[in-house]
Amino acid sequence: MIEIEKVNFRYLNSKKSILQDFSLNISKGEIVGIIGPTGSGKSTICYLFNGLIPHTIKGIFTGSTIIDGKNTADTSVEEMSEKVGYILQEPSFQIASPHVESEITFGMENLGLSIEEMDEKLNNIIQKLNISHLRYRQTANLSEGEKQKVILASILTMEPKILVLDESSSMVDTTSKINLMKTLKELNQQEQKTIVIIDHDLDFISQIATRILLINDGKIIADSTPNNILTDIKLLRENGLIPATIPSLFYELKESNLPVSRIPTSSDEATKILAEWLS
Ligand SMILES: Nc1ncnc2c1ncn2[C@@H]1O[C@H](COP(=O)(O)OP(=O)(O)OP(=O)(O)O)[C@@H](O)[C@H]1O
Ligand SMILES: [Mg+2]
Repeated sequence: MIEIEKVNFRYLNSKKSILQDFSLNISKGEIVGIIGPTGSGKSTICYLFNGLIPHTIKGIFTGSTIIDGKNTADTSVEEMSEKVGYILQEPSFQIASPHVESEITFGMENLGLSIEEMDEKLNNIIQKLNISHLRYRQTANLSEGEKQKVILASILTMEPKILVLDESSSMVDTTSKINLMKTLKELNQQEQKTIVIIDHDLDFISQIATRILLINDGKIIADSTPNNILTDIKLLRENGLIPATIPSLFYELKESNLPVSRIPTSSDEATKILAEWLS
C-alpha cells in the first residue's frame, strides 16, 4: 500500500538531508505507530505519503514513493488526498468552514458528486462516528476532541484507503483519545484502512499499533512488534522517549532484582504476572 524506495530529501534551507536512502513498505490493513524524538523526521516521512514532498514542500528529492500503485511524483496532492487522509496535530488549523455540516461536505464538493450522493455519505459518516449532536453546530464552538471528530468525518467522506494521524492525540482529552482509538480500530477492522500514527504517547500507541517504527535522525532504528519495542526500555530511553507506564514499571522492578519473568505491555498481562508472583 505504501512503498517508499531509496528516498533522499533535504529541505531547501537545510544543509543536511534528513532522509538518506530511506525505504519503507507498509501493507494494507497495518496500523503502524511511528515514534522518535523531536526533529527525528517523523512528520517528514508522512509528508511523502500524500505527495506534500515533493510537490508542496520544496527541497531536493530523489527516490520514489508509490501509494496504492500511484507514484506521488506524477500525481497531484489533490488526487493523493483521495487516497491518503491526513489529520494534523492541531484540529483548529484544519477546520475550514464555520458550520459542521459544510466542513464535512467540503472535501466531497471537489469530487463532483451529486447532492443526493453527498447527502447519503454525510448521513452515513455522521452515524458511523456518532456525531449527530454536532451536525448543526458552529465549528468555532466545538471542543478540540469534537473538532477532531468532524475533521475525521470530513476526511472519511473521501473514502481514503490510508489514514495518517500526526500527533493528533496530543491536543485532546483522555476521553476523546480513547474514542479516537476505538474509531480507528473499527475503521481498520471493518474497512481494512491502513493507518499510520505518529505519537509521543507510547501508552496510546501501545494500545492500537500492530507494528512500530522507531525513528531517529531520519533513520529507522527499530521496526518490530509493539511488544518488542515497548518492552525495550533501554532502547526507548537511548532515543529520548518516555516508555509506556506498565512496561517501565516492570522494567524498574526487574532492575531492582525482583523476579520479573517478562515485561508486560497491557494491564491484563501485568495482572497475570502479578498473580503468578503472588501465588
Ligand atoms: N520546512 C522545513 N525547513 C527546514 N528544515 C525543516 C523543515 N521542517 C522540518 N525541518 C527539519 O527536519 C528535521 C525533521 O523534522 P520533522 O518535523 O520531520 O521531525 P519530527 O520527528 O516530526 O519532530 P516533532 O516530534 O517535533 O514533530 C528537523 O531537524 C527539522 O528541523
Ligand atoms: Mg512532527
